[in-house]
Amino acid sequence: MDRTAQLTARPTTSGIAYDPPAATASLRAGAARVLEANWTGGSTVPSRSLYPHQWSWDSAFIAIGLRHVSPLRAQTELETLFTAQWADGRVPHIVFNPSVPLDAYFPSPDFWRSSTAGRTAGAPRTVQTSGIVQPPVHALAAWLVHRADPALSRSRGFLARMYPRLAAWHRYLLHRRDLGGAGLAGVVHPWEQGMDNSPCWDAPLARIAPAAARSFHRADLDHGAPGDRPTDLDYGRYVRLAADYRDGGYRDGPGGRHGGGGGEFAVEDPAFNALLIASEHALARIAEELGAAGSARRARAERLTRVLVARLWDAEAGMFLCRDLRGDALVPERSVSGLVPLLLPGLPRDIAAALVRTLHGPHFSLGDRTRLVPSYDLLGEAFDPHRYWRGPAWFNTGWLVERGLRAHGETAAAEALRAAVLRLAGATGFAEYVDPFTGEPCGATGFSWTAALALDLCHRPSAPHERQKLDKGPQNDVSAADTGTFDRSDKGGDRG
Ligand code: SER
Repeated sequence: MDRTAQLTARPTTSGIAYDPPAATASLRAGAARVLEANWTGGSTVPSRSLYPHQWSWDSAFIAIGLRHVSPLRAQTELETLFTAQWADGRVPHIVFNPSVPLDAYFPSPDFWRSSTAGRTAGAPRTVQTSGIVQPPVHALAAWLVHRADPALSRSRGFLARMYPRLAAWHRYLLHRRDLGGAGLAGVVHPWEQGMDNSPCWDAPLARIAPAAARSFHRADLDHGAPGDRPTDLDYGRYVRLAADYRDGGYRDGPGGRHGGGGGEFAVEDPAFNALLIASEHALARIAEELGAAGSARRARAERLTRVLVARLWDAEAGMFLCRDLRGDALVPERSVSGLVPLLLPGLPRDIAAALVRTLHGPHFSLGDRTRLVPSYDLLGEAFDPHRYWRGPAWFNTGWLVERGLRAHGETAAAEALRAAVLRLAGATGFAEYVDPFTGEPCGATGFSWTAALALDLCHRPSAPHERQKLDKGPQNDVSAADTGTFDRSDKGGDRG
């Protein structure tokens, strides 16, 4: 039985001022209304207009917020996604809703043709999906969702059912996607890393001949302002890469004719790998909750953290960079992706300290020139405060950096960022992303992960007296458990 509140109202696009603690209640209610309006019965669309199906990393972030209003829906969100997992372990980045018209989103199921082109790779027959992946936030989400209502989770066997699927997902990434041979996971398409048009991809993408503009129709421009979205040239290259991967049977590694290790685009990304490592830590906790040993997973997470530093840390930039595997060189572009590893508990102290300096320095200027962490270097030539991942600030990266700051004892900076996320989420009608200087909304409003993560930050206690207030019911146990998931005690196996 779902023990939590019924969610009934429609989403709001009106502003909600953040005036803590008075506005917190209306912010929570507004966020819950967005999640209710975007719920389709088994999962949540990121946006009714722009993204009308289920997206993989969106669902993980959505579940993290949804657990505060409906632990059952949060579990269902993740379960629905994993019913579309491929036999090779991959979790597709989109699970298509068959009742949505084909022309509502591009690339549609007839482009990906998962059940035929992906048959050898083990695509499911009954559900249509894309064939690429997105960042692995899922084990982390599953653990946090479990902690929201452990009794419900245990009674439904939630973790027992999710664990083998999550383990297969990590196995796929750590083996089939170890394209650089060093242990990190590589992405074969900018959509896999999730920050589609980041300037980090400009050089690796320049090698790709774009698909002809007349060969496809962009549905995103029917719903979003062209100045907020990737360019047609970028889209042509996204289409070419995805079509080549599909035509190679979605095979990875040297056996893949076009895609994977044999493809023209292969990159090791700091955020993608940091999320994999954070999820590996979470998987260790899940294993222990199920009565198994978590120590091997924890040791792997620590080893991968060392590999991440060895492969992607750039001391001069004071942050992590992407590695282009085709040229085997770091990409000299500063993106928020390179700050996300701050969330790792086992990061060396000097590296964590350098990341905090970079966050507040001239390239990101958090709390000085910018209100939320910009997605790209303010001083970079390609910086554009409105165009998707080339400068605007996003709420999921704000949430991740906030956790990182908290995990490394930067409480005041974490508090300031938390307040900024809450204020802007409410004031923009839960925008997809915002101008980092002005907070002006860009992209869609009523965006699910913005609502979900704002909701999560509403529940995060900011001070001991607030924690006391929140620690009353099973749901509120989440607050204490969350802290333990990321803090330094994780190294010692503390179970929160
Ligand atoms: N983010 C991409 C889009 O805009 C693909 O997932 O559709």
